[in-house]
Amino acid sequence: DRSALAARVHGLLRDVPDFPQPGVLFKDFSPLLADADAFSALVADVAAHWDGRVDLVAGIEARGFVLGAAVAHALGRGFVPVRKAGKLPPPVRSVSYDLEYGSATLEVATTAFAAGDRVLVLDDVLATGGTAAAACELVERGGARVTAVEVVLELGFLRGRDALPGREVRALLTS
Ligand code: PRP
Repeated sequence: DRSALAARVHGLLRDVPDFPQPGVLFKDFSPLLADADAFSALVADVAAHWDGRVDLVAGIEARGFVLGAAVAHALGRGFVPVRKAGKLPPPVRSVSYDLEYGSATLEVATTAFAAGDRVLVLDDVLATGGTAAAACELVERGGARVTAVEVVLELGFLRGRDALPGREVRALLTS
């Protein structure tokens, strides 16, 4: 069941203090991805939940690519990479958002979504929510619809859901 899956996934995430910067607690997903049974069970859980309700999966760079491509494959749907600025060839749509210090930009291919497409936005971690909110905006700019935001881990104390008002957010783990 889902609580057993959550416990298993939790046990495979490695906390790395002060990476990539002092004061940041990095969540390393590599042990989870390397565990064939756990990775497969995670992907199956996400795919089963959204089966029949999404036309495309949009994964956010970089770990959202790994999870998102696997989920898209399990659903029999296509995958769209949402990338950091300057990585995708033109034409692209861009959305910039504020970080604690400075700003960041996400981009998606202009032709990635058709009007009315139902899109699942997928990432590893929801922190402040700025990244997921920007990805949702990119989806909707082209007239597609965000079905939901799905993450493996939500850092609840950072209140990322507040940046996603009115959106369905699903997280396997919350800390
Ligand atoms: C992390 C994570 C999310 C984002 C969440 O990505 O994978 O994409 O931060 O943060 P937010 O909710 O505060 O916006 P990161 O910027 O570390 O990029 P990476 O996956 O390419 O390493």
